[in-house]
Amino acid sequence: MNKEEIINILNDNSQDDLLFQKADKIRKENVGDEVHLRGLIEFSNYCIRQCKYCGLRAPNTNIERYRILHDEILEYAKNAVNLGYRTIVLQSGEDNYFDTDKIIEIIKDNKKLDVALTLSIGEKSYDEYKEFKKAGADRYLLRIETTDEKLYQKMHPNADFKNRKQCLYNLKSLGFETGTGCLVGLEGQTIDSLADDILFFKELNADMVGIGPFIPHPDTPLKGAKTGNFNLALKVMALTRIILPDINIPATTAMETLNPNGRLIALQSGANVVMPNVTDTKYRAKYEIYPGKICINDQPSKCRGCIEGKIKSIGRTISKTYGFRN
Ligand code: SAM
Ligand code: SF4
Ligand code: FES
Repeated sequence: MNKEEIINILNDNSQDDLLFQKADKIRKENVGDEVHLRGLIEFSNYCIRQCKYCGLRAPNTNIERYRILHDEILEYAKNAVNLGYRTIVLQSGEDNYFDTDKIIEIIKDNKKLDVALTLSIGEKSYDEYKEFKKAGADRYLLRIETTDEKLYQKMHPNADFKNRKQCLYNLKSLGFETGTGCLVGLEGQTIDSLADDILFFKELNADMVGIGPFIPHPDTPLKGAKTGNFNLALKVMALTRIILPDINIPATTAMETLNPNGRLIALQSGANVVMPNVTDTKYRAKYEIYPGKICINDQPSKCRGCIEGKIKSIGRTISKTYGFRN
């Protein structure tokens, strides 16, 4: 599919059902009916960056900051393993308290639990990523957010688009299963640039792609901006499945925030992964990247049961494997 075709599909909503059916079929043929669950631990909401859309951005003083330290992270990871998770995802803001040595210790101890380990802790140097890989980390999530360089620079004060892109190529070259993705609905984002985002996922040969509608947070400069469109985010996701048939694609939490059945709809439109929260309930409301996040009052065991019920209700099964890209 070339850029023009992608743009035409994104602009024309008359064939959406066909698009979602096609993505669902390609998902079934390439990665099957199993859904991979990834247990998400949100271990720090401290962040040095200023992403204009995110509630965790450094200038936001209306947020109570927390850090979950090594032993407590391990406790939540063990609990997740007992609930049947085969992958742990460690996510945080860019928090320099967790230096390379601390992250390495956390990686090593998590890997003793016989899990695949994903990191999502932002932009680091090539050497740091190398140390993380050596310590046993398997995967890394770093969304490009948008491939429109001008828009990227506008949304990310004091950040550098070229560095973010370089980080992704570094992760790939170090052998990480590399995840990226974009926000859909940023102010000033065009259909043309969304088509470029999809083509970038292909160019990188991303192993995982997460697409999330933008949801405005009241304590950010984008508080008055329009919420991203659920259907458009779903279309970007479906096109990503068609263009990269064998990758892992999550049904994102942001989709469920905008639509009570968002994750199931996504799972039937190309997605094959869900990332339930396995962090203790007491921290969940504080990891407020956007308002209205689901499950903030639920315990890990509740989410585990809930998601299993939902997945089975659409005739799919939960994978018992690590869920690497085959
Ligand atoms: N700090 C790391 C990073 O930025 O890569 C990982 C954590 S960050 C909270 C994870 C993702 O949250 C980002 O990649 C971004 O796409 C998403 N996010 C942040 N603010 C959002 C918002 N207002 N609406 C939807 N998604 C948002
Ligand atoms: Fe920090 Fe990530 Fe939020 Fe940006 S998106 S402010 S890097 S937590
Ligand atoms: Fe948390 Fe449904 S996934 S309650």
